[in-house]
Amino acid sequence: MTELIDKLEKDGILSKEEFVSLLKNRTTDDEKYAAQKARSIADSFFGNKIYLRGLIEFTNYCKNDCLYCGIRRSNTKAERYRLTKDQILECCSSGYELGYRTFVLQGGEDPYFTDERMIEIIRSIRAVFPDCAITLSIGEKSEESYRAYFAAGADRYLLRHETATVQHYEKLHPKELSLENRINCLKTLKRIGFQTGCGFMIGSPYQTPENIANDLIFIHELKPQMVGMGPFIPHAQTPFADNAAGTLRDTLFLLSLVRIMEKNVLLPATTALATIDPKGRELGILAGANVVMPNLSPVSVREKYKLYDGKVCTGDEAAECRRCMEKRLNSIGFETVVSRGDYIGGDYAAY
Ligand code: 5AD
Ligand code: FES
Repeated sequence: MTELIDKLEKDGILSKEEFVSLLKNRTTDDEKYAAQKARSIADSFFGNKIYLRGLIEFTNYCKNDCLYCGIRRSNTKAERYRLTKDQILECCSSGYELGYRTFVLQGGEDPYFTDERMIEIIRSIRAVFPDCAITLSIGEKSEESYRAYFAAGADRYLLRHETATVQHYEKLHPKELSLENRINCLKTLKRIGFQTGCGFMIGSPYQTPENIANDLIFIHELKPQMVGMGPFIPHAQTPFADNAAGTLRDTLFLLSLVRIMEKNVLLPATTALATIDPKGRELGILAGANVVMPNLSPVSVREKYKLYDGKVCTGDEAAECRRCMEKRLNSIGFETVVSRGDYIGGDYAAY
């Protein structure tokens, strides 16, 4: 299968049939080959530098009911919380001291956080931390709302597409949600000028190699600046409680393929990956990832932002987490950088 991996590097894309064949037939040697290629591409853009994003999980209220997610509205056992604007700013301050220059505000789709409240929060962060990037991850909104957030000072937006196959999307989501709207949101975000991230879970229920091939082709066509990918992990209080988690091998291989395909894309080694394997994050970086997103949320709420079971890093203070991350990255020859870590250019001149 190394010819297909070479072809992916050269052409930046494969046909659906080629992707399916690669996903189904690759050996562990092919995975190693892909990881090495992915790492050397990442090295050519980022060297041994890893970008840090401070994740602030500011609300776990959610009006949606995605079947895989632990904070879905039907989970009546979830203990709900919201951070105040001051608490969010405090998270940013302690993060800034620790070297973070990107704050990711992530939350459920919580109607309490109206545009007015979000704009106020974004403006305040922008005013206090003019040298930092502000990333939002708060779901599907109208174009008008997205424009208002951008005008208030938000720079980036993460909205995973979850799966690019309609039939699969319908198996993971309630009928009020549609892939069409999700994709429209992503296109709108890009058009407005956000550095935009899509992404999907590896090993989500009912996922087939054909679905994953569609995801890869979708990513290639959307050309996002970021791609978030981690294994699906079951949550006991969801309909998928008894489904198997995605595997380390599959997740690493997909990280490598996305790096080989999209070259300079920003690619996080996710907390979900660290959750299914104690060395998951390190292995993700060695497979081509170049971003980590440690938690900056107050320890008192960490346990409550539970999208899946077993989530790691819930007990540690931000400073502890930061040190731990540095040690882990140093142990594999990498280091974190204190910078915004923006997407570098659309052409591959440096490569
Ligand atoms: N396992 C892994 N990832 C999950 N997400 C939601 N629920 C789970 C789960 N059970 C991911 C989704 C979402 C992101 C914020 O977290 O892809 O977009
Ligand atoms: Fe958070 Fe280790 S990275 S505690």
